[in-house]
Amino acid sequence: MLLLLLSLTLAIGSSHGQFPRVCMTEDAQLNKTCCPLWNGSPCGRNAKRGVCVDWKSKRSFKDIQHYDDRLNWPQGHFAFTCECFGNYGGFNCGRCKPGYSGDKCDKPRTVVRKEIRELSVLERRRFFSYLNLAKYTISKNYVILVTGDRHHRGTYKFINATIYDVFAWIHYYAMKPILMNSTFTSKTNYAHAGPAFPGWHRRLLLFLESEIQELMGDEDFTLPYYNWSHEKNCSICTEDFLGSNDLQGNIISSSYFASWGAICSGYNYVDAYCRSAERRFPVENLLRKPGRNPSTRLPTYLDVQHTLKWKTFDTEPFDSTSKYSFRNCLEGFLNPLDGKSEDENMHNMFHDYIGGTMSQVPISGNDPIFILHHAYIDKLYEVWIRKYNATPETYPENNHRGHRPLECAMPFLPCVTNKHLLQTSTAYGYEYTHMDLRDVEHAETSYSSVHVLY
Ligand SMILES: *[C@@H]1O[C@H](CO)[C@@H](O)[C@H](O)[C@H]1NC(C)=O
Ligand SMILES: *[C@@H]1O[C@H](CO)[C@@H](O)[C@H](O)[C@H]1NC(C)=O
Ligand SMILES: *[C@@H]1O[C@H](CO)[C@@H](O)[C@H](O)[C@H]1NC(C)=O
Ligand SMILES: *[C@@H]1O[C@H](CO)[C@@H](O)[C@H](O)[C@H]1NC(C)=O
Ligand SMILES: *[C@@H]1O[C@H](CO)[C@@H](O)[C@H](O)[C@H]1NC(C)=O
Repeated sequence: MLLLLLSLTLAIGSSHGQFPRVCMTEDAQLNKTCCPLWNGSPCGRNAKRGVCVDWKSKRSFKDIQHYDDRLNWPQGHFAFTCECFGNYGGFNCGRCKPGYSGDKCDKPRTVVRKEIRELSVLERRRFFSYLNLAKYTISKNYVILVTGDRHHRGTYKFINATIYDVFAWIHYYAMKPILMNSTFTSKTNYAHAGPAFPGWHRRLLLFLESEIQELMGDEDFTLPYYNWSHEKNCSICTEDFLGSNDLQGNIISSSYFASWGAICSGYNYVDAYCRSAERRFPVENLLRKPGRNPSTRLPTYLDVQHTLKWKTFDTEPFDSTSKYSFRNCLEGFLNPLDGKSEDENMHNMFHDYIGGTMSQVPISGNDPIFILHHAYIDKLYEVWIRKYNATPETYPENNHRGHRPLECAMPFLPCVTNKHLLQTSTAYGYEYTHMDLRDVEHAETSYSSVHVLY
């Protein structure tokens, strides 16, 4: 609890996400405004931190009746939101963008994400205890949307959730099939099977990282990654790391995660947003069955090398059938060796290899191994960005809902466009260990075994 004592001193992070509790009051919902006061003025306008902008002035506002509430984010929910100046961030411009700190957000800073086996025993225990606190602390910043009938706004409810559950919910929410004129389509969704995939997940991890930094008052906290590319099995699915599991997939009770419930589990029908969160329905515990599905394996070092050789970020038709596409190889719909045959590999295969909760992708964010996996996917994205000097201009024009270059990553606030999530991570204030490109391409060193480190 020493950690808690430290927590009062630092003011930090950027925060962004959904739905800001202060914007979900009846009044704010009626006039569709999310421009909370900061220090007495909306979006900190008087302090020149930001302004309340009318989305109509920025983009054509389509009739959203009978349309998916997430289309043209944030316009389905808010006609007015904050736009922050300079390095200010947060839904009320009261925080700093990732990568900056100080009262005026003018101090650049960079934090480093490490491989989980590089953490000291103390750092690792701290990571798990922070996660556990996030799992059991109601978010003071955000509430989540639930409904059994997505067609009818009158049924939408905004309810409390814990910080970790808000994170898991965001992933679930982004992944629900898209509702267009009363028909559901699931060829792509807001986070997957299109060019927004790696940038959207980058934004999601930044969200959790900054929420935990704020909760713990620990400005230097970073999410670790799990480099699985030389692994034969899930070597972190052990008591000392993410917890081991029994034959049914239950996490063994010595782990924090044994008692974690999976928010939005069950009742995954298209019309619903997370019914089970209301606790009127049973919630499953986490399940994990690494290596038990014989049609999966861990992606290999060669799979990674081949994925990184594709120079084009993404290709027509910008979905799960794209060929010669780095994004589609990384996401795992495409064979990284030939770049043209369909495959299950990389990102997708890791989900299925771990099994249980992770293999039900909409709710997979409930298992903290999701974080470690996606931080590694993000590291590979970063390696690729640096290798080919990619910039926001590399992001392709395309016409998929949620994936267009100038659309805001959904459901984050303030708006960051998809194309701007395609740039080096230093623009977002973080780095990874072992980023020397030569190192990444040729290193022979391998991590010591789990036992030696422990
Ligand atoms: C919307 O309603 C809130 C709460 O009543 C009020 O503070 C705000 O000024 C209103 N905003 C607009 C743009 O009308
Ligand atoms: C939701 O959380 C807020 C802030 O923690 C609390 O004041 C409120 O009572 C909670 N509401 C319910 C229904 O639990
Ligand atoms: C939805 O319906 C509107 C009005 O009937 C129509 O103009 C529009 O093209 C339809 N959109 C799709 C994607 O079907
Ligand atoms: C992974 O494989 C190694 C070597 O076969 C074994 O010692 C270890 O127990 C396995 N770990 C898991 C989690 O299955
Ligand atoms: C993953 O680990 C292997 C073995 O240590 C190393 O060669 C490789 O560079 C690492 N890859 C990344 C992207 O971290």
